[in-house]
Amino acid sequence: MNIRTVAIIGAGVMGSDTALDIACYGYNVILKDLNTEILKEAEERIKQSFRMIKMMKKELCELKQEDVLPHIVFQTDYKGFENVDIVIENIVEVWESKKAEYKRLKEVCKPETLFAVNTSCISITKIGSLLPDTSKVIGTHFMNPVPMKKMVEVIRGFHTSQDTEDRITDFLKSLGKNPVVVNDCPGFVSNRLSHLFMNEAAFLVQDQVASPSQIDMIFKQGFGHKMGPLETADLIGLDTVVNSLNILYESFQDNKFRCCPLLKKMVDAGLLGKKSGKGFYDYK
Ligand code: NAI
Repeated sequence: MNIRTVAIIGAGVMGSDTALDIACYGYNVILKDLNTEILKEAEERIKQSFRMIKMMKKELCELKQEDVLPHIVFQTDYKGFENVDIVIENIVEVWESKKAEYKRLKEVCKPETLFAVNTSCISITKIGSLLPDTSKVIGTHFMNPVPMKKMVEVIRGFHTSQDTEDRITDFLKSLGKNPVVVNDCPGFVSNRLSHLFMNEAAFLVQDQVASPSQIDMIFKQGFGHKMGPLETADLIGLDTVVNSLNILYESFQDNKFRCCPLLKKMVDAGLLGKKSGKGFYDYK
């Protein structure tokens, strides 16, 4: 099966950048979200990201917006899904929402469609159980910002077939990505590690041990990381971090994943990080 059309479900932080990244390599992309307002915001975000890509990615610097944007169809329905080769699902990190979405997807997609799940923490095996052919379900945990990060953590669910793994890793390589294949567990490798750092950094702020910039500076200059845990949490979105910590806590029944109350309070107050203009840092 040649991959021609990719559907991205969810046009938020991850979905919009993933749609752009894939369109830059000539694939046809359907970008679906709940309403046209969200899709308009996504289109703006995509235009901004495109300017960044042209500056930062040598191999794409000749691309013109008018050559790439027409490859992305923005829509709120499932028109054309019968021809989709890969679905990349990027909706909110909430099990009930994902469950409802897959119920619909299994009705509209062809039997050959591969399902690539971009979840932060939810088990790929559990998501696979929502679809008739679990061998075609795999995790593709893209890193944020998607066009700039080459590594993609690919997660094999319990029933994921070798054929699905091969097709998805070939597809990712065609986007210039470097897939690293791991086995399924909540949070996989990246988020099982990174959420401990982000959560503990939030506790340090809550306990007034240090300011966010001091914590991030110690992390970066002391350990040689490019970004600190609180900068990373702001970039991901604090709502997504809280959802992920709750899933990790429920899955492992381990107190080390108990979400810092300060994180929850910030989300309740609308401080979601970069996407809302304020989190541990100011972005306005
Ligand atoms: P977001 O909150 O920015 O975007 C989610 C989008 O999904 C929203 O626009 C929402 O309207 C839409 N949505 C919800 N239900 C939908 C449905 N049934 N159909 C279509 N659209 C629907 O979230 P974000 O950050 O883009 O995360 C998406 C997924 O990617 C989550 O599972 C998250 O854990 C994962 N992820 C997030 C990363 C990050 O850095 N933010 C990194 C890697 C994975």
